[in-house]
Amino acid sequence: MRGLVSARGVNVVYEPNRGARIWSVRDVDLDLAEGEFVGLVGESGCGKSTLGFALTRLLQPPGRLDGGSISFDGTDIASLSGEQLRAQRRNGFALVLQSGMNALNPVRTIGHHFGDILKAHARDGDDYTRASIRRRGGDLLEQVELKAEVLDRYPHELSGGMRQRVVIALALALEPRFIVFDEPTTALDVMVQKAVMNTIKSLQASQRFTALLISHDLGTVLEATDRLLVMYAGRIIEDKPSAEVLTGVHHPYTDALLGCYGDPRAEVVQLHGIPGMPPDLSTTGGGCLYADRCALARNGCRDSVPQLAPAGSGRVACFVRAPAPNARSKSADPQTEGQR
Ligand SMILES: Nc1ncnc2c1ncn2[C@@H]1O[C@H](COP(=O)(O)OP(=O)(O)OP(=O)(O)O)[C@@H](O)[C@H]1O
Ligand SMILES: [Mg+2]
Repeated sequence: MRGLVSARGVNVVYEPNRGARIWSVRDVDLDLAEGEFVGLVGESGCGKSTLGFALTRLLQPPGRLDGGSISFDGTDIASLSGEQLRAQRRNGFALVLQSGMNALNPVRTIGHHFGDILKAHARDGDDYTRASIRRRGGDLLEQVELKAEVLDRYPHELSGGMRQRVVIALALALEPRFIVFDEPTTALDVMVQKAVMNTIKSLQASQRFTALLISHDLGTVLEATDRLLVMYAGRIIEDKPSAEVLTGVHHPYTDALLGCYGDPRAEVVQLHGIPGMPPDLSTTGGGCLYADRCALARNGCRDSVPQLAPAGSGRVACFVRAPAPNARSKSADPQTEGQR
């Protein structure tokens, strides 16, 4: 069954200059159900943000969709433009980025930000007055645990955590049914990260919007989400219920990512780096793009591209499928191993 958000065969390329092509998202199929909270992880540069931009139709040149379809509640949004897209966006989808300061206009008060967004997407019959904007802005700030007096402040008068809460409140202003959170807490200190993440979790639980959380922090993602998507070199290579990830994954890359994550409460934490580097996305590559870094790779892995196929309660794109129990220690580079 198709989800609220559904992608089929989505490809995104960046063409930063003549002749240069970077295939950042490749042949992605995914479905995000109504009210589902899904995590998206993978090493830097593997295409997570690009996929988030594509799903919310916020991709900017030199990036462009190069085939595939993206539907939102049954409407193909990949082909919409102008007023049709604005109408979908009004009640549809929002994107929350990492740095609150960049998303806010330094010379406008927070109250003005709410006014701008509400008026820009007003429907026929909406009559936003200063008083009604302040009321709605105050309510939205309350949802992210800020006081209404923040409406009169400028962005530079707020802490990083408060700014990020404001950005989340602005994203909620149009009551979206789908929100992409692209590393929403990365720029914050650890305690504030936790508090903002808790706010996101409780908003999602109470408002039941569909959420895609992009993060490097596997621990946070596993704690918050229902399902985990793992991306490598532009492709989704594993899709698994988050609750089952710590008890066993199928793709050797997911296993290697787990090796980079240590539970600080454990008495002994074994961390393993992933040897090598992700591939250059300007080459198309024939087979599994992880094969060069994979301790389990065999001849056939380089012949054709593995497609996502059912594996346990999830899906995996790997010819070897289930890594041997000791795959993690085999694939680890002793030079990057650390022990505490
Ligand atoms: N504006 C751009 N112009 C050219 N290439 C780009 C542009 N933005 C991204 N890319 C390319 O697309 C690839 C994927 O980038 P993307 O930002 O989606 O990765 P990411 O997984 O979000 O990384 P990170 O975890 O560091 O945020 C990058 O390797 C980069 O080469
Ligand atoms: Mg990114």
